Amino acid sequence: MNIQTLAKERRKVVGLLIEIEQVSSNEKNSNDEIFGDCLHSIRQITAQYDGFIDKIFNNSVFIIFGIPERREDNPTRAILTAISVQETSKSISLKHKITVNTHACIDTGLLSSDETSAILDSLKKIAQLKIPEQIVITADIHRLTEGQFSFKGIPTETGKLYSIINALKIPAIKKHLQSRFIGRVEEFNLLKKYVERVLKGEWYVVSVVGEAGIGKSRLVRELTETYLLKKDVRLIKSRAYAFTAMEPYYMFCNILSYTFNISETDTIETINKKIADKCSVWQMNSQEVVLTAGYVFSKELQGNTTDIAFEDRKKLIFRIVKQIVFNLAGPDGKPVVFIFEDVQWADHSSIELLNMVIDSISNIPIFILCVYRTGFIHSWAAKPYYTQIFLKPLSKEETREMVSSLLEEEFLPGDISNAIIEKSEGHPLYVEEMVKTLIDEGAIVRTPFGLEVVKKLSELKLPDKVEDIISSRINILPQSVKKIIQTASVIGRKFQCKW
Ligand SMILES: Nc1ncnc2c1ncn2[C@@H]1O[C@H](COP(=O)(O)OP(=O)(O)OP(=O)(O)O)[C@@H](O)[C@H]1O
Ligand SMILES: [Mg+2]
Repeated sequence: MNIQTLAKERRKVVGLLIEIEQVSSNEKNSNDEIFGDCLHSIRQITAQYDGFIDKIFNNSVFIIFGIPERREDNPTRAILTAISVQETSKSISLKHKITVNTHACIDTGLLSSDETSAILDSLKKIAQLKIPEQIVITADIHRLTEGQFSFKGIPTETGKLYSIINALKIPAIKKHLQSRFIGRVEEFNLLKKYVERVLKGEWYVVSVVGEAGIGKSRLVRELTETYLLKKDVRLIKSRAYAFTAMEPYYMFCNILSYTFNISETDTIETINKKIADKCSVWQMNSQEVVLTAGYVFSKELQGNTTDIAFEDRKKLIFRIVKQIVFNLAGPDGKPVVFIFEDVQWADHSSIELLNMVIDSISNIPIFILCVYRTGFIHSWAAKPYYTQIFLKPLSKEETREMVSSLLEEEFLPGDISNAIIEKSEGHPLYVEEMVKTLIDEGAIVRTPFGLEVVKKLSELKLPDKVEDIISSRINILPQSVKKIIQTASVIGRKFQCKW
């Protein structure tokens, strides 16, 4: 990989420095053996989170996230790598009967022409502070991952740093600048129409599809808040995250916790009792349900029950989940609305289970709403009860309305709305990020006579988030198409292409 070329692109990346520290020694095992074991697991974990090991020196490993491919969630991936490494060091400690600690620090920065040294230098400075906490991040990383982890602030002479306490199982939604809901009338009414039919006993699977940031989640949120919550339905929401692709059945955790009313603070005894109570009403085998819950949530739940072979396990989980779905929406149940968000990130087992549920529904009032980015392939298209809603960009007028709502100003200087309409091409996330950039960079000021533009809009840089989304989309294209885009970007916005 040529870091010099990436540096010319001024690529923003995330750096993670891991220091391996051996607290107590054991003569039987050489340091090299222990370091070798740590390195082996760091390599595996780094690969799992798409990081790139740039340097190994002394007892340290320097990893970069964001090369060769750009990702939108590099800071999250870096933190999850550090957490996994920290957990693995516990098992290495047990194996060698010594204490191995890992200290990690994470920062973000631009790749500079002298390779990755600027980020590494900044991380080494943090490491020299010898903060006792095991994972330390900068304020920039904290801002980019707020809501996904719990943090503790660490004041230092050069500014505030944070340590990671743990990852939140269900990340909180980050509050930010928000516009009122614009447009999407047709799509909203279509979704409402299908729910109304389900309320009368029919069953439907609908997917809301579109590019990253086009407004899929916002449409679903509006439907939920202004319509679904007022109806007599069981509403069960679930989702996948970019970092749960390796967690089997993650998308079904919420369905089980909703069904058996399980909360994160419940003890194993409480969970077993809740499952047993519900199973006696539904006449289900509670042993089998506990076993299933164990495979979906945590093996600890299974207690002394004997494990079963992989294929039988899958059959059991499928059978139990099917029974649960049919019981929820069955003759005595209310209509059920399942919302699965970000299905494009779902782990393989969750997708198999979802396919099974979609294949088997009939004669029960059930509405399955699947939300995913363009490019996700599934096998439901031919089902007579399936419909797809594809979200297009907002119109020019809608974009203008959105800018106006974000800035809380009815009358906008023409150059602001025209610049945003032209650059965002009606993409709501880009509109939001561009308005944020205008505010953050002080390009617009509020005067008694309304908003005034005080900087040349053409000089404003594209927000990082927008750049990352565009680049990650270009990355998944075939090499030949990437080349055309590269050449075309030099020519300008419009060009002719002969095949
Ligand atoms: N119709 C709309 N009116 C006002 N704001 C919108 C609209 N659609 C989207 N937005 C805003 O744009 C941002 C991106 O939208 P959203 O999160 O729904 O995108 P998404 O398609 O779900 O993206 P992703 O694939 O990354 O999950 C959000 O802050 C959202 O509130
Ligand atoms: Mg979304």
